Amino acid sequence: MKYAILGAGKMALALTHGMLRAKLCAAADITAASRSKSGLQNFAAATSVRTAASNAEAVGAADVVLLCVKPADGLAALHEAGDVWKGKLLVSVVTGLKIVKLREAAPGSRVIRAMPNTAAMVGLSATAIASGEKATRADLKTAEQIFQAVGEVFPVDENQLDAVTGLSGSGPAYIYLVMEALSDGGVAAGLPRKLALDLAIQTVLGAAGMASSTKEHPAVLREMVTSPGGTTIAALGVLEKAAVRSAFIDAVKAAAKRAKELSGE
Ligand SMILES: NC(=O)c1ccc[n+]([C@@H]2O[C@H](COP(=O)([O-])OP(=O)(O)OC[C@H]3O[C@@H](n4cnc5c(N)ncnc54)[C@H](OP(=O)(O)O)[C@@H]3O)[C@@H](O)[C@H]2O)c1
Repeated sequence: MKYAILGAGKMALALTHGMLRAKLCAAADITAASRSKSGLQNFAAATSVRTAASNAEAVGAADVVLLCVKPADGLAALHEAGDVWKGKLLVSVVTGLKIVKLREAAPGSRVIRAMPNTAAMVGLSATAIASGEKATRADLKTAEQIFQAVGEVFPVDENQLDAVTGLSGSGPAYIYLVMEALSDGGVAAGLPRKLALDLAIQTVLGAAGMASSTKEHPAVLREMVTSPGGTTIAALGVLEKAAVRSAFIDAVKAAAKRAKELSGE
């Protein structure tokens, strides 16, 4: 299978590294095209993939095209490829660009939309993927393999992608804020700043690891560390009083609403 990557930024780099690490293909099977020559050269130096002089050249030589440009550049990047889309699988990670628009700009292609997150850079993305009506089971499998190379994959309907964006797309930022606040709490309680931050990061990592490997509901795991009259219940009372739980619910809803607005609904 031959791949084209349009765009040479952060997501293109994360996906290419992941695909090569997972041995999904060889570097010679990937051709990248991007807007600036210097950006494309840096990308090729970091990945050893081939480069193309234009989007049309990259797409023309590929079976699968990964669209990895910013939302404002998405349709232009597809139009620049011209009339070479028939029979290609187009996999877009562009936030808010709907399958119907992608198909209009890449006529004759089969389309899959994906919403990865920034943790793709360390192989730990939560990626949701949605198939267009022309995409086949084999196409879905191809897209799953690409995103499994950078984390976990969750098939969804396209109409769920705004909610996915609100939860796992923007979610890493919410957790960074939690880590920062926890480490500030540690400093307030007398710990040196570096130690407090290291403890906060490892605590988030450990809690995610527990939830992921035990498959227990978070409420069960929380009860397991909450002894009667102990320290944890004292802290949880403070969090509930501050309505932290409903703040997170409202945050995800606000991000999902914004994603819907940005996709033109
Ligand atoms: N980063 C994330 O964590 C994340 C998570 C989920 C989804 N996404 C989605 O992934 C997409 C890419 O994000 P990113 O963070 O990788 O952006 P980025 O780092 O800014 O990279 C965008 C790349 O696209 C290139 N480009 C611009 N116009 C082009 C065109 N017409 N043809 C070919 N290449 C073109 C840019 O080239 P220049 O350098 O010359 O401008 C740049 O290399 C976005 O749509 C975003 O919504 C990103």
